[in-house]
Amino acid sequence: AHFPAPQGQAMPELEAQPTAARGGAGFNVAVLGAAGGIGQPLSLLLKLSPRVTQLRLYDVANTAGVAADLSHINTAARVSAHTGADQLPDALYGAHLVVIPAGVPRKPGMTRDDLFNINAGIVRTLCEGVARYCPTAWVALISNPVNSTVPIAAEVFRSAGTLSPGHLFGVTTLDVVRANTFVAEAAGLHPGEVNVPVIGGHAGVTILPVLSAVTPRISLPEDKARALMERIQDAGTEVVKAKAGAGSATLSMAQAAARFAEACMRAMSGEPGVVECAYVASSLTDLPYFASPLRLGPAGIEEFLPLPRLNALEKDNFERMKAELQASIHKGLDFARK
Ligand code: NAI
Repeated sequence: AHFPAPQGQAMPELEAQPTAARGGAGFNVAVLGAAGGIGQPLSLLLKLSPRVTQLRLYDVANTAGVAADLSHINTAARVSAHTGADQLPDALYGAHLVVIPAGVPRKPGMTRDDLFNINAGIVRTLCEGVARYCPTAWVALISNPVNSTVPIAAEVFRSAGTLSPGHLFGVTTLDVVRANTFVAEAAGLHPGEVNVPVIGGHAGVTILPVLSAVTPRISLPEDKARALMERIQDAGTEVVKAKAGAGSATLSMAQAAARFAEACMRAMSGEPGVVECAYVASSLTDLPYFASPLRLGPAGIEEFLPLPRLNALEKDNFERMKAELQASIHKGLDFARK
C-alpha cells in the first residue's frame, strides 16, 4: 500500500471530508472487489479518468498484480493495492467514492437472489469498513442482489450513525445502457442519442424500462414494446447463458459502473444537471427503495425527478414488480437486523 495507515491517526471529522464542491481537485476512489471480472475493467476505466487522482484497489486476493499492471498506464491516478481484511482501512481511508463489485456472480440456472447469502455477508462487512474509515464517502453498490444489498448497506450505516441516504446508490446503470442499446437497434437510432428511463429495481420484472418516455420520442407497437421490455429485463441472463459457467456481465457492467462513477464525481465537483438512474431510498412510491432518475449535486441526491407517466403495459409491469421488490427489500432488512 502506498498510503499511510490510519492506525494512530486522528479520524477525520465528518464534515472535514471534502464531498462538497471541490473545484478542480481530483478524487480518491476505492474499488472493493477490484481483482474480479467487473473490478479489473472498472479499475482500468477509472485509471483513465482525469477526475481520479488516487485509485485504491481492494480485494481478498490478486490485487497486487492488477495494481502493478494498471500503475504502468501513463495517467495521473496513483494506484495502490490493498489485500485482505487487515488492509481494508488503508483502502478506504479518505475515499470520496467507494465502488463495490465484490461478491460472487451468477452461474447458469441461478437467480440474483440465489447469490443472497454469500454476497449479503460480504456487503455487510465492507460497509462496516466504510462506516468506520470513510463515513462520508459516496457508495455505489454493484454486488447482487442489488434489490437487497442496498437496504443491507443502509442498515449498516444506520447502526453506525453514518447513514446519508443521498450518498448510497445501487448501480442500475447497466439496465439503462442495455435499454439504450436495444431501443436504438429497434428504432434505427445511434445508441448514444437514446435515453431510456429505467425505474423500479435491478432483477427480472422489477426492472421497468419506461419505453413510452424514451428520448428522442419513438413509437412502438405494443407487442414490440413488450418484447423489448422482456429482453431488457432478461439481458443479464443472456450474458450468463452465453458465458456458460464463466460468470455474468463484466465488461458492459464495468463501463456502466464507470459511467455512474463519473456522474458522481461530476456532481461532487458542482457540475450542474447531472442526472442518472439509481436504486436508492425513496419516497416516490410505497416501496422504501426504488430506482428512478435522480439529479445529483455536491450533497448527493438533490432531486428525485418525477416518475414518467406509464402506459397500460408499464402500469401492469409496475403492479407485478411491487410484491417481488418488497420481498427483496425485506429480505435485506431481515438479514441486516439479525
Ligand atoms: P467475480 O467473481 O469475477 O469477482 C468478484 C471479486 O470479488 C473477486 O475478485 C473476489 O475475490 C472478490 N471478493 C470476494 N469476497 C470479497 C470480500 N469479502 N472483499 C472484497 N472482495 C471480495 O464476480 P464479478 O463478475 O466481478 O461480479 C461481482 C458482483 O457484481 C456479483 O455479485 C454480480 O452478481 C454483480 N453484478 C452486478 C451487476 C449490476 O448491474 N449491478 C451486473 C453484473 C454483475
